[in-house]
Amino acid sequence: MHTQTGYNDTFLRACRREPVPYTPVWYMRQAGRYDPDYRKIKERYSLLEICRQPELAAEVTMMPVKKLGVDAAILYSDIMNPVESIGVKFDIVKNVGPVIEEPIRTFQDVQRLKPADVEGDLGHVLETIRILDRELTIPLITFAGAPFTIASYLIEGKPSKDYKHTKTLMYREPEVWFALMDKLGDMVAAYLRAQIEAGAKAVQLFDSWAGALAPRDYEKYVLPVVRRIFDSLADLPQPKIYFPGVASGELLPLLRGLKADVIGLDWRVTIAEGRRRVGPSFAVQGNMDPLLLNAPYEVMVEAAKSIIDQGKAGRGHIFNLGHGLFPEASLDQLKRLTEFVHEYSSGARE
Ligand code: CP3
Repeated sequence: MHTQTGYNDTFLRACRREPVPYTPVWYMRQAGRYDPDYRKIKERYSLLEICRQPELAAEVTMMPVKKLGVDAAILYSDIMNPVESIGVKFDIVKNVGPVIEEPIRTFQDVQRLKPADVEGDLGHVLETIRILDRELTIPLITFAGAPFTIASYLIEGKPSKDYKHTKTLMYREPEVWFALMDKLGDMVAAYLRAQIEAGAKAVQLFDSWAGALAPRDYEKYVLPVVRRIFDSLADLPQPKIYFPGVASGELLPLLRGLKADVIGLDWRVTIAEGRRRVGPSFAVQGNMDPLLLNAPYEVMVEAAKSIIDQGKAGRGHIFNLGHGLFPEASLDQLKRLTEFVHEYSSGARE
């Protein structure tokens, strides 16, 4: 832990459900295309090229910190970054997302995946974390994609709406499915541990698309590996966040007992209902609809007030969006929202 004066640990306190002077706030996708300075950097470099240059990746991570006044930074990277290390070639295609050269569909495909060499292949990510650990005066969150969400790209080969190939493999060939979950689980556990050892102050596991599953299928095919990942990190004191993704409200009761500290909620459940479903042992994070950033200021802050009020009715709430913000979001509106969350939650009135 940093102890120098000037370090703002409000976010970490909220993760641990300790008292806080105000509700801390950060945004999923806070480094991104809504920011004209980010777009300028993207004219010269792709996402993966930025990630491979630690100084630049650290700078991009810090851009929203300086502009928005948020209480946590999130590493600029992507959930697909570590898969190269297990032998999967991919690219992030403009306006599409991750695209896999040869999708993983058979037992042989899964068998070919090798264990991740985090230090060897992802040293640039660890170096970015070390730079940020020296420079930041707020906590750095680093992250990994959860096995189901990564698998959905590996199997489909590209972003999908119905996860047809993924679910078909899962139902028809469970032994192939679980072999894949095992390998991705090992990769994610090793990667998150290395991130924390490099200086991350909290980690988030993004299971963005798990809400596409029926609760009983999630419980059978996905939850075991999620549990194993958090169990494997239980000796590390840094807070761990699980984001079960969009439309995950019906999965929340299944998360009780997970060795995570914070559960991310999307906007389809209220903070109060989300807390009720996950039980009292977790802090919660979320959950404004990101499109409310497109609403008139007054409409947006009415929604924010309700989220903050419900957050303050219990212990441990971190204000965030229910999913990543859109490229169309306005920097000014985000800045005003951040200020509003700080002021309103600390009891100050405008
Ligand atoms: O949040 C942050 O500011 C940190 C950076 C971050 C990125 N990806 C950078 C990025 C994080 C946390 C992610 C995680 C990620 N990547 C997730 C989980 C979070 C979520 O949104 O559910 C997922 C599912 C991915 C896979 C992925 N990468 C998608 C679906 C896309 C979008 C395609 C598009 O163009 O809209 C990407 C590309 C990507 N990753 C962008 C950014 C800033 C946008 C394109 C770019 O600026 O190059």
